[in-house]
Amino acid sequence: MPSHEDTDHAVTTVIGLGPMGRSLATALVEAGHRTTVWNRTAGRAAALIERGAKEAPTLQAAVTASPLTIICVLDDNAVEAILAAVDGALAGRTLVNLTADTPDRARRLAAWAEKHDVTYLDGAIMTPIETIGGPDAVILYSGPQAAFRVHEATLAQLAGTTTWLGEEPGRAASHEVALLDLFWTAMSGIVHAFALAAQEGVDPATFAEGAKGIADLLPTIIDEFAGHIESGEHPGDASSLTSAAAGMKHVIHAAHARELDASVLEAALAIARSGVEAGDGDQSFSVLTQRLRAS
Ligand SMILES: NC(=O)c1ccc[n+]([C@@H]2O[C@H](COP(=O)([O-])OP(=O)(O)OC[C@H]3O[C@@H](n4cnc5c(N)ncnc54)[C@H](OP(=O)(O)O)[C@@H]3O)[C@@H](O)[C@H]2O)c1
Repeated sequence: MPSHEDTDHAVTTVIGLGPMGRSLATALVEAGHRTTVWNRTAGRAAALIERGAKEAPTLQAAVTASPLTIICVLDDNAVEAILAAVDGALAGRTLVNLTADTPDRARRLAAWAEKHDVTYLDGAIMTPIETIGGPDAVILYSGPQAAFRVHEATLAQLAGTTTWLGEEPGRAASHEVALLDLFWTAMSGIVHAFALAAQEGVDPATFAEGAKGIADLLPTIIDEFAGHIESGEHPGDASSLTSAAAGMKHVIHAAHARELDASVLEAALAIARSGVEAGDGDQSFSVLTQRLRAS
């Protein structure tokens, strides 16, 4: 359960006023929190000040204004630059880092925090700025459970789904990088597919309907692959890797015929072919997870 202190005396600092930092601070202000903000470059807080936030004159003043500081900047290099300048002011307080970076960087920051008597939670924001403060926002957390519980009510103001994934500090970022792996690979496919459709004279609106149909197939495939990976069995009776590789080759040929770059799919085909050459041609496409791990 969230602590009495957190729910009744919601006092929070937000460091970083890029689009996401501003959205996080806005959500807190709108939820009635006394919110202090600070940004490396001054002049980004005007709209927040109008809504009732306070802009701290210095970084030290910002972090000492609240028991909880939320930081959301470009990457963990920027976080480390800010923490180097904090100069002990965070000692005895809690830092929630909602900046996107790798699991190892999260672990490194957790080690820094332990050394400097700072309670550290790492977070991963999985939805865009428009969602922040509403039911559709999703933010994942990892780090000390006790600290998460103390600040849970505050963190719940930022996202409808606020999930603690465990004590291991890199766990939220582990989910984040894997989910973004899926997202960016899909985004590369989406732009390529629109380009190929256009080269073949298919208009974007018509193509979009078919594209959404393909996207609808993915949840079933994701569940099926999860089962294969858990069991270590990759039955390819319904669709084999050999057949998939042939299908990928057709797309590449069609792209080349329209003078389109096909390097992303060529790289994917090379991995599929290595699976076929290794004797996995009659297995499911999911067997490639093993090849990726081995290479
Ligand atoms: N925007 C989204 O929809 C979205 C969605 C999910 C996750 N995220 C994540 O949220 C984080 C913030 O994103 P954003 O959209 O707000 O924009 P951003 O461009 O990634 O970050 C801008 C913020 O980083 C600060 N910054 C950059 N380098 C710095 C440094 N060396 N020292 C101190 N501060 C530095 C900027 O300060 P200055 O103003 O001084 O330059 C500004 O406050 C990122 O990790 C991003 O991946 C964003």
